[in-house]
Amino acid sequence: MNDVSYAGRSLLALVVLLLCGLSSAFAEEKAALRIAVAAPMSGLFAPMGEQIHRGAELAIEDINANGGVGGQKLEIDVVDDKGDGATAQAVARNLAKSGVRFVVGHFNSGASIPASEVYAKMGVFMITPASTNPYFTDGGGKGKNLWNTHRTAGRDDVQGRLAGEYIARAFAGKNAAILSDGTPYGDGLAFKAKAALKAAGQPEKLMSKIKIGQKDMSRQIASMKQKKIDVVFFGGLADEMATLVRQSSEAGFKPQFIAGDGIFSADFPKAAGPGVEGTMFAFSLEDRDHADAQAVVARFRAKGFEPEAYTLKAYAAVQVVAKGIEIAGKSDPKAVAKAVRSGSPIPTVLGPLTFDAKGDRREPDVAWYVWKADGSYSPVMQK
Ligand code: ALA
Repeated sequence: MNDVSYAGRSLLALVVLLLCGLSSAFAEEKAALRIAVAAPMSGLFAPMGEQIHRGAELAIEDINANGGVGGQKLEIDVVDDKGDGATAQAVARNLAKSGVRFVVGHFNSGASIPASEVYAKMGVFMITPASTNPYFTDGGGKGKNLWNTHRTAGRDDVQGRLAGEYIARAFAGKNAAILSDGTPYGDGLAFKAKAALKAAGQPEKLMSKIKIGQKDMSRQIASMKQKKIDVVFFGGLADEMATLVRQSSEAGFKPQFIAGDGIFSADFPKAAGPGVEGTMFAFSLEDRDHADAQAVVARFRAKGFEPEAYTLKAYAAVQVVAKGIEIAGKSDPKAVAKAVRSGSPIPTVLGPLTFDAKGDRREPDVAWYVWKADGSYSPVMQK
């Protein structure tokens, strides 16, 4: 072996060593676990997209500051689904093809439901902080639950059950009426309330439909007066409910009105008139009030961002993914879904969450609020 070839081989060995070092450093960088935020980043829903982005981003920052998940750092990808079903499906395909296995999103059910099938086929775990339509975890209405759908948001139809249980409790022995606007949303609420009243042994005295756009409620009001109705649960939206409340009040009929989140609109109290005072409605809990959220709320505020609406639910969604990976002991999406759905409580900024076999929260995300005549509203202390 002459000196030159020895030197040449040493150099080669050095180069190989350097390359190995570089490639392993590169491999480590690549090994960060990507979590995609898929939500509307443009258009009408962009403010909600920003809430979801900001919530997930801070959660990832906090988890990384504590060493990541099982020593692996998290990395965020943000994509715009424009709040549209077809775009959401295209986004889902692209994310899956690019190797993403965990998605926080989407925002609206109209995007989450179509995207969920793409993710399911392509091995992607999803958790939405905002989509509340029952179909999302009920298999898109096709009767087949998907392995990959989860939400830190509540379900629309839980409001109906809780309304029925509330009426049975707070109005024991009184006469209840259930009205629906005949839409999937309205009927969903109304039939759940009916089932809960029946289960409590206090079936409603009257069940009736009103039509979307109906301007004259006198027939329904007369029947309710005649049956001496004390409490009315309405499955439907703000316009029809406002007409019903206004005309009832004008007719001297003053039951306790209760509705779902469909009447949560700033225009509702104005359209309903002074008779709106005391009308109850369901909406999600105020996450910012939760004791477990206080430190994170303060950090958002210090950054000049108010963590309203979906922000903390997005933060919690990342916590659920991280804890799921920890319980599963690996980042395989199916194993993580199984771990999340195992019923182990997962500590989050919304408090400990437990998930059922379909990926829904077991703890209902519903609170009752009451409208005042001046157009403001406040939480109701439950009886
Ligand atoms: N809760 C709304 C939905 O599910 C955002 O579409």
